[in-house]
Amino acid sequence: MRLVLLGPPGAGKGTQAQVLCERFGIPQISTGDILREHVQEGTPLGIRARAFMDRGEYVPDEVVVEMVMDRLEEPDAEKGFVLDGFPRTVPQAEALERALAARGRPLDAVLCFAVADVTAIARLTGRYTCPTCKRTYHREFSPPAVDLVCDLDGTELVRRSDDDDLTAKRRLAVYREQTAPLEQFYRERGLLLEIDAEAPKDEVAGRAEAALEELLERRA
Ligand code: AP5
Repeated sequence: MRLVLLGPPGAGKGTQAQVLCERFGIPQISTGDILREHVQEGTPLGIRARAFMDRGEYVPDEVVVEMVMDRLEEPDAEKGFVLDGFPRTVPQAEALERALAARGRPLDAVLCFAVADVTAIARLTGRYTCPTCKRTYHREFSPPAVDLVCDLDGTELVRRSDDDDLTAKRRLAVYREQTAPLEQFYRERGLLLEIDAEAPKDEVAGRAEAALEELLERRA
């Protein structure tokens, strides 16, 4: 199964990616997570990316495209993948389309999670992440059992530096301007599944699963 997840920051792409990856036994490829690892390790790519990420803006296409193409070459991506946060611009989508066509393995579907800006802001500004296992929590909607401690591995939870109110608003504006056009790009290709993500996460997961099943049945 080869899937792309679209949706504004805070729509729940990372949360739903984990559900889909478990269900299909495929890896989650999150460009945000890969970039944050580079930033943490201080690699040349990370140093370059950091300035863009701190401002809530996109890292240049050529940097991200090369990074994703390398990741898709890894053996675990052979059986499929969930791309979370890529593509985000039309040139990125075109590069992905070309690369997958060359392999004779096109995308199966693009799930687009829709939320209002006010919901996205509330989700982002209350998010905590485990730096070890990358699981996300929310101080109100999905708090850990012990305050600020990961349920799975006991690591202290952290807040992302781009989750403050001002940067979150900038990220939303950048999404509307540069990524929203991809909805039409994928609609024209018959791949887009629009999911109302204004519901608790299990309910959103159920909606995504139903939409995906319906699409696959229609194609069968
Ligand atoms: P990235 O890390 O991809 O961030 P994003 O797209 O802004 O998305 P988020 O991770 O913030 O949100 P999400 O939709 O995954 O929500 P989540 O599931 O965590 O990118 C960061 C930066 O990297 C970009 O700004 C850019 O600079 C750069 N970058 C990355 N990819 C790039 C690319 N392709 N090109 C160029 N630059 C790139 O959920 C959020 C919170 O809500 C959590 O606390 C969660 O517990 C909670 N939650 C989730 N679902 C629900 C629900 N249904 N109900 C209640 N709470 C919920």
